[in-house]
Amino acid sequence: MKFELFDLERNQSLFENEVDYNLSESGVHPLKISEILTDDEQRELLNKNLYYGYTNGTPELRQRVADMYGDTFSIENVLITSGSAEANFLSIMTQLESGDEIIYMVPNYLQIYHLARSFGIIVKSLPLHQELGWQWDVDELKSIVTPKTKMIVVCNPNNPTGALMNPEVMDGVIEVARETGCWVLSDEVYRGAELDGVECRSFAGATDKTIVNAGLSKAYSLPGLRLGWTVGSETYINRAWSFHDFTVINVAYLSDWVASKILEYSRRRKILDRTKDHLNHNLNMLCDWAEHVPALTITRPEAAAITFAKLNIPMSSEEFVFNLRDNFSVLLTAGKWHGMEGFVRFGYGTPEEYVRSGLDRVSDFCKKY
Ligand SMILES: Cc1ncc(COP(=O)(O)O)c(C=O)c1O
Repeated sequence: MKFELFDLERNQSLFENEVDYNLSESGVHPLKISEILTDDEQRELLNKNLYYGYTNGTPELRQRVADMYGDTFSIENVLITSGSAEANFLSIMTQLESGDEIIYMVPNYLQIYHLARSFGIIVKSLPLHQELGWQWDVDELKSIVTPKTKMIVVCNPNNPTGALMNPEVMDGVIEVARETGCWVLSDEVYRGAELDGVECRSFAGATDKTIVNAGLSKAYSLPGLRLGWTVGSETYINRAWSFHDFTVINVAYLSDWVASKILEYSRRRKILDRTKDHLNHNLNMLCDWAEHVPALTITRPEAAAITFAKLNIPMSSEEFVFNLRDNFSVLLTAGKWHGMEGFVRFGYGTPEEYVRSGLDRVSDFCKKY
């Protein structure tokens, strides 16, 4: 089978551990086990037998996840996956076929974009508009929907802009999905990392054919657990679970156990409050820095440890990123890898001093070029 390269992940995989300053990460600096479990729990963890566990996730963890989406959700609506990446993979593999058409938000993470195209699915990219505060124009959405449209795919909060979808736009998407009977797939892995500390509205339950994918890698600062989930109707969950038998069988038992502890409401709030404080602090620093860098314009994001900076110099996003990487050992991601030229993405979730030192090198680079 021929498949497209996932430029964003490929470039990160190759260089994120080689550069002095990796500002290509979109999550918050990872937590340690000792910071999230009590002493008793840490001892319990050391004495765990390493079972397979439940292939769809333990009932305890599925209940914690279901609770995050309100009373209408039960453990039957949740499948635990290996990161939200696997959740996205399962959603595409179980609901779409070659020749189907999907509408896809750009700029974006592009996992679903490349994957779907590799399987012969027609992907119609629909841009967010910066002048609308990185929102979709709902009329534009209505104009490109056809009877062949099987799914509308969104990322909210959005990667790479850090924008939140307006309630009116969300209502518009749901209306279009209801009228056409198509699926809505909402990647909400950045939900919980809002800068004002208020979790944004989820698409979960918006229609019978809505899928929400998320996980612990971003807002929860726990990418090393490789823990995600997919939420939807029981029929969808059973189908996704059947496909999950072929992918990873199940998530590591220890990750499932740790996640079920930390997703208890008050503990999960504590982690999200840490995220909010850290992001606000670093973002203020980043915005102050950007005022002295005419080569870039930064729009304040509303969520996530990322900002999509406009390039004010005649250089492509890849040229900027490759030159910066090779001459100043700082890694960013190129707008091109997110489906939109003319921008580069900064991740600012690492410790303050680390971000500051990386930004100093970006200043030196911008002065030189
Ligand atoms: C929008 C989006 N979805 C999914 C993923 C995959 O994350 P994970 O599998 O760690 O949950 C990422 C990673 O950057 C992302 O940005």
